[in-house]
Amino acid sequence: MSQNDLDQTARDILIGNDQGGYTVPTKGLYPYQWNWDSVFVARGFATFNPDRAWREIELLFEGQWRDGMVPHILFRKDDPSYFPGPSVWGTDGGPIPSSGHSQPPVAATIVRDLLELDSSDAAAGRAKGLFPKILHWHRWYMQYRDPDGLGVVAVIHPWESGRDNLPDWDDALRAVEVKDVEPYVRKDTSHVDPEMRPHKEDYDRYLSIVAACRKVGWDPEKVARTCPFFVADPGITFILLRACRDLLALAGKLGLKEHMAEIEGWISRLESGAARLWNPDLKAHVALDLRTGKLTDGVSSASFLAPYAGLSGPDVLPAVQDHFDRIGSKVRYLMPSYDPDHPKFEHLRYWRGPVWAMVNFMISRGLSEAGDAVRAERLRADTAALIQSGGFAEYFSPETAVAAGGGSFSWTAAIWLAWATPSHAEQAA
Ligand code: GLC
Repeated sequence: MSQNDLDQTARDILIGNDQGGYTVPTKGLYPYQWNWDSVFVARGFATFNPDRAWREIELLFEGQWRDGMVPHILFRKDDPSYFPGPSVWGTDGGPIPSSGHSQPPVAATIVRDLLELDSSDAAAGRAKGLFPKILHWHRWYMQYRDPDGLGVVAVIHPWESGRDNLPDWDDALRAVEVKDVEPYVRKDTSHVDPEMRPHKEDYDRYLSIVAACRKVGWDPEKVARTCPFFVADPGITFILLRACRDLLALAGKLGLKEHMAEIEGWISRLESGAARLWNPDLKAHVALDLRTGKLTDGVSSASFLAPYAGLSGPDVLPAVQDHFDRIGSKVRYLMPSYDPDHPKFEHLRYWRGPVWAMVNFMISRGLSEAGDAVRAERLRADTAALIQSGGFAEYFSPETAVAAGGGSFSWTAAIWLAWATPSHAEQAA
């Protein structure tokens, strides 16, 4: 297929997955509105329909909880083809039935992009409408996912990280006692090859965490104190740090200066906290189990997000580049979600190895901002090659380029349009 055809297919996928203002990740496997999926989708819509791009994020924030949390799934209508649905989560925090935890906060970064890309008169007003909601969400993250002010952001569930079955969660997840889980039937394995999905023992624990949080009414303060899983994630920490910088820029641009000092405080707290995630043996940022104090022992794709977070000094950038080159000579397509030299790497099991387009987009952006145009371009070219050979799949093998998971996937289409497509690169040149 030519690149023009692929551009058109990508637009058709976004339009086809549109449910009237919000977009599902893919039909069947994921029939609701997902948090960070929607935000990347908005970035894709911004290339051909700015109004629709804003709408996507505005609809996501319609589901914001009273405490500021923006849920990872909004169950706007009941769909029995998905498990676990609203009754399992048992939440009551916001106006729309939802899951009980959040997902990576990319919204501020993409809203800043939308404002730059949209020259219409309405753009500033729409950004201003979203600003206080994003601020509230960031405040919630800083208060309840970093309750001790360490400058690292915890996830209370592997799903909150957006990188569901990452090996980094294994030890902390094993420590979760399986309890209060009613008999259940998974739906994911009927949509997609079970070989590529998380194992049953993981699923039992995913549901046990949900049950534990449900018991404390999803009160964020109680959740932070009692949740059996509380692991600082370099992915969320770096994405939030980056998003705070973009929120600060938005505050400046929109003339909302009264919020700048608070945001600056978050930025310096996260900047210094990042050192806690540094594994000196590995020379990389990893996850930190806040219940046990243990660092994990593998490089993940989030380790490469340090430059995206603005951490690209001589203590960090060369180490990131060394890992990049080592892994880049090991697999044909970057960036695998986990280190191929680690024993837990599996090239096709979801977040234990496969390449995800939107992660590449963020890593590349950080590298490019740090002045590393060559590695940034390798990521773009690899992402484009994977999509050209395998289509708009959920994820891809870094070794064989096999396309896997769900098909006609919204964020893969969006990232193609926003960044990976060679036609976009030509226009930008
Ligand atoms: C999976 C992914 C998560 C994503 C969701 C919908 O759960 O791990 O990151 O948001 O699917 O695409």
